[in-house]
Amino acid sequence: MTAKPNLVVIGTGGTIAGRGNAAVNTSAYQCSVLGIDEVLASIPHADALANLRAEQLLQTGSENFGNAHLLVIGRRVSALLAQPDVDGVVIAHGTDTIEETAYFLHLTLKSAKPVVVVGSMRPPSALSSDAALNLYDALAVAADPASRGLGALVVVNDEIHTARDVAKRNSFKLEAFGSPYGPLGYVVEGVPRYYRRPARPHTLDTPWSADALDALPKVDVVHAYGALDRRVIDAIAADARGLIYAGTGNGNVSESLIGPLRDAARGGLRVVRASRTGSGVVVRNGAQPDGAFGWLTVDDQLPQKARILLMLALTQTDDPAALQAAFDRY
Ligand code: DGL
Repeated sequence: MTAKPNLVVIGTGGTIAGRGNAAVNTSAYQCSVLGIDEVLASIPHADALANLRAEQLLQTGSENFGNAHLLVIGRRVSALLAQPDVDGVVIAHGTDTIEETAYFLHLTLKSAKPVVVVGSMRPPSALSSDAALNLYDALAVAADPASRGLGALVVVNDEIHTARDVAKRNSFKLEAFGSPYGPLGYVVEGVPRYYRRPARPHTLDTPWSADALDALPKVDVVHAYGALDRRVIDAIAADARGLIYAGTGNGNVSESLIGPLRDAARGGLRVVRASRTGSGVVVRNGAQPDGAFGWLTVDDQLPQKARILLMLALTQTDDPAALQAAFDRY
């Protein structure tokens, strides 16, 4: 008989730690009120999967997460993974920004051990809550050696997603998450089934380490529309190092903003054209002469995750060609 793996389950808050006044409160409830011990204790058969240790790292909705929260989570998970008696880590997290934290871990952890970020759309107190099953599935994924070397994973709604691709796409349904190229696999009856692997480098194959990061540079995201005022760009250019411009369609820039964005790039702001459509590739030197203007393009990455990547890339270089290479590689 093989020994059970040792998993650490980190609580950070979110709906998975929430409670409603009544079972019918599937969308209106208080989030981040249950301790991770309590949440874990309510999962039947969890002990059969692994030896579990719970740790309360944060207790807040993930909409509040700033760069400092990412660094705290990154450092703690990294320290746990370095312990020989820890085989994997599960992070219970609010779903709102789960994709950002997971992507940050995906790019900065230096370990092949399984790391699973999990949330739920309904609190444990609600009718047909997904909290217990999602957490059970996350434990099952983290406990399985097949999950090693895949980078950070997000487990929700019976699916296993790579942190690079997954995003929250719905505000209230159980089926809220998706990846543009599909999940890596499913979890069925507590057993992960993988059908594909992440294609882009992560964890051990990136130049960033959560342990070495003391701060992240300021990068802002702008959701564009035709009437967007240039003062928004000017204000960002005044104190940020990077701007993800979530343009219309293929990262298009309205005529009134071409000059301000070009000037901002000349002044040192790293301007990255992204798309507000939610999927697809932004074509470099397509609709805009990015090279001539000093702009970068996002490849297929969503604006909120492009922010994570640009922050990390800017910790090591300010060179536009090197920053573009990061978008093309990761
Ligand atoms: N406060 C939101 C968050 O923590 C709740 C959303 C959720 O966890 O599903 O992201």
